[in-house]
Amino acid sequence: MKGLILSGGKGTRLRPLTFTSAKQLIPLANKPVLFRVIEAIREAGVTDIGIVIAPETGEEIKQHVGDGSRWDAKVTYILQDAPRGLAHAVKISRDYIGDERFVMFLGDNCIQGGIHKLIQQYEASDYNSQIVLTRVSDPRSYGVAVLGEDGQIVRLIEKPKDPPSDLALVGIYMFDRHIFEAVEHITPSWRNELEITDAIQWLVSHRYRVYPYIHTGWWVDTGKREDMLEANALVLEEMTPRIEGEVDAHSQVDSRVTVEPGAQIVNSVVRGPTIIGRNTRVVNSYVGPFTSIDHDCLIENAEIERSIVLEHCVIRDVPARIHDSLIGRRSQITRAPSKPQGYRLLLGDYSQTGLI
Ligand code: G1P
Repeated sequence: MKGLILSGGKGTRLRPLTFTSAKQLIPLANKPVLFRVIEAIREAGVTDIGIVIAPETGEEIKQHVGDGSRWDAKVTYILQDAPRGLAHAVKISRDYIGDERFVMFLGDNCIQGGIHKLIQQYEASDYNSQIVLTRVSDPRSYGVAVLGEDGQIVRLIEKPKDPPSDLALVGIYMFDRHIFEAVEHITPSWRNELEITDAIQWLVSHRYRVYPYIHTGWWVDTGKREDMLEANALVLEEMTPRIEGEVDAHSQVDSRVTVEPGAQIVNSVVRGPTIIGRNTRVVNSYVGPFTSIDHDCLIENAEIERSIVLEHCVIRDVPARIHDSLIGRRSQITRAPSKPQGYRLLLGDYSQTGLI
């Protein structure tokens, strides 16, 4: 069994962060979403992993992931020239996959509990394909599946206006070699992409055995700021806390806080679940629940909660609490000089602020 991670896409809904970095490298609890995907595949016993990359962000992904030896895995990169769809990514991965069965995982998805159970189930079955589904309250922005009486998938529709069920495709798919036949037979959708949903529908229509795996834990597709914050909160809640940095006697740090090596908490209150990254200093500040501060940051005379702060940021002397924020690398949020009074901003294109 091989793994195939799709790590292309432009990440337009996470601009301006995605002007300079791949969305899959934005961290949840200080670890990139993509690393969490690699770990999930590796934990399921799969060591041969292909990563489909885009020309814009591929080099950065290669630099961060390397050859996979860190996970005791072998990573092969497959370049997709443009975002031509998930089924197109499968098509160009044919030589890499060969005749093996494989699990395909979208590189910006985060799922509770890993994937070893579903890999085991698929490996023990004679299914041609098994698709992970989960119940969602509004299925209109996903691929949606309809099950038959024997539990088999009988129909799939990509982003239906009028969803025939509440079972959404979560972005984890298991296939055998017949999917390569399917992707040759479909045509681009209205968004000019080869949809994996159409390829699976082709399998169903040609009487291949396509079964669901119904996932019941949480799952987040981290395409937008609010999704990232939600996923960050869920991942933090599951962490086993550890204090490896320094906490001074004037600080209050509760039992759900992780303080990484070299970090310092000085005269501050930190409420978990929260992670303070290595070499970050929190001084005279409040860090509230569901916050991830990455390495080498300074938080001084400030309050922040339910936020993600990437590395090397400075947040100092901020009079109001920062919350529900996603702050990119080396950002500085500080007080403006006293005159003239007001906000002084240097924002990248597509930045978003919520001032009071
Ligand atoms: C893709 C799939 C869709 C699936 C979703 C899960 O959508 O096409 O079927 O439900 O991922 O995240 P996209 O993110 O390309 O809009």
